[in-house]
Amino acid sequence: MQTRSLCTLSARTAPLLAVLILSACAPPAEEPDPHLRELREELVERFTPGLHTLMVDLGIRHASLWFAGDAENWPLADYMVHELEELVEEIEELHPVYREVQVAALLGEMTHPAVEALEDAVEEEDRTAFAEGYDQLTAACNACHVASDRGALVIQRPTAPPLTNLRFSP
Ligand code: HEC
Repeated sequence: MQTRSLCTLSARTAPLLAVLILSACAPPAEEPDPHLRELREELVERFTPGLHTLMVDLGIRHASLWFAGDAENWPLADYMVHELEELVEEIEELHPVYREVQVAALLGEMTHPAVEALEDAVEEEDRTAFAEGYDQLTAACNACHVASDRGALVIQRPTAPPLTNLRFSP
């Protein structure tokens, strides 16, 4: 997914970048030119969002999900929980290890049971189970922040929607 947006962006910005990216996306036929490889590595590094950026996105998804479920807007809650799940997968893929923190392993272990509980609650349109699943997810966010030596980052149920131009009521 990240590779696709990387390709799209570069193709729009400059043909040279498009060529470089296309060569990065296609399986290499032979050992690439070291200069080309260096450029490719630089581009990948430049266009890969950092863990903190993805975590800010995750914070927004987490907050939006609350307001969708709280309003019992089940189609929107379903959308948000799937977007959150995709984002978690993207983080696992892009930052499997971060400053010695086993991000991919921790994310999977800690958030997947809560995400599954949320998916079930949304499918059954169960407001109580939704709130329980949500608190379970929030506890997983915080447990990982503690495990990652980022215990100062405490996630909670949000008190105001992150976006006021998105309607949460069904
Ligand atoms: C793999 C463990 C892990 C899990 C699970 C996790 N986080 Fe994080 N989170 C981190 C780390 C590590 C940082 C600090 C990144 C840094 O130092 O650049 C962070 C940072 C953050 C930040 C601060 C971003 C900033 O720079 O302003 C927010 C917000 C955040 N996480 C939200 C969440 C939410 C919401 C969840 C749960 C849905 C969650 N995180 C789950 C590891 C995790």
